[in-house]
Amino acid sequence: MQLNNDRLSAFIELMDKDEPDYIYELEKKAGTDDIPIIRPQTRAILRFLLALTKPLKILEVGTATGFSALYMREYGGKGLKITTIENYEKRILEARENFKKYDKSSQIELICGDAAEALPVLSEEFDWIFMDAAKGQYLKFLPDCTRLLKIGGLLISDNVMQDGDVIESRFALERRDRTIHSRMREYIYELKHSNDYETCLLSDGDGVALSVRI
Ligand SMILES: C[S@@+](CC[C@H](N)C(=O)[O-])C[C@H]1O[C@@H](n2cnc3c(N)ncnc32)[C@H](O)[C@@H]1O
Repeated sequence: MQLNNDRLSAFIELMDKDEPDYIYELEKKAGTDDIPIIRPQTRAILRFLLALTKPLKILEVGTATGFSALYMREYGGKGLKITTIENYEKRILEARENFKKYDKSSQIELICGDAAEALPVLSEEFDWIFMDAAKGQYLKFLPDCTRLLKIGGLLISDNVMQDGDVIESRFALERRDRTIHSRMREYIYELKHSNDYETCLLSDGDGVALSVRI
């Protein structure tokens, strides 16, 4: 039987439990402002992995307005610390406000600046790295992420299917989308063939690559 992806997704999301009210409020605001936040199926994966692996230190690349950082904080343990990097001034201001309001226990630290400059100066080890910045830059950030991720840690890369574009021939895409398409394919290839990672690709949400550092 051919499965219909839209119906499957709707069913999977319908089965999910309710979230705290502020999560829905932040989601609604992000929708209104057209901020690309983690999708419901990605959230379920994060929740599951938080419960399974109980990370104490997470590095996030791409804060936007802080939705995913607050989401991981909500479902992570009390001792969880999240460091998150964002370079877009308008989003930094909103993330700061959101953290002030919803991260009362100050578990989240925001680094304001370009990840290309922030990552090389970090030296502490992380249990998880959540890669969710500009899709064309994942490959560039990978060496630093590999250096910063502890052995046995998880690198979680979001949006690796690029709304399905990644499976298309580059010639089927608009010229302006071709660079990002080839960079994402290269990134996926690297994760799948690197001696530093064991990776599985999930088509949930916008596609998630789960890589364990070996
Ligand atoms: C998909 S959004 C992040 C969504 C967020 N993780 C969430 O789910 O709530 C990607 C963010 O990465 C930021 N970004 C892109 N390239 C970046 C870079 N080189 N350094 C820091 N932030 C970057 C963008 O400004 C954008 O806000």
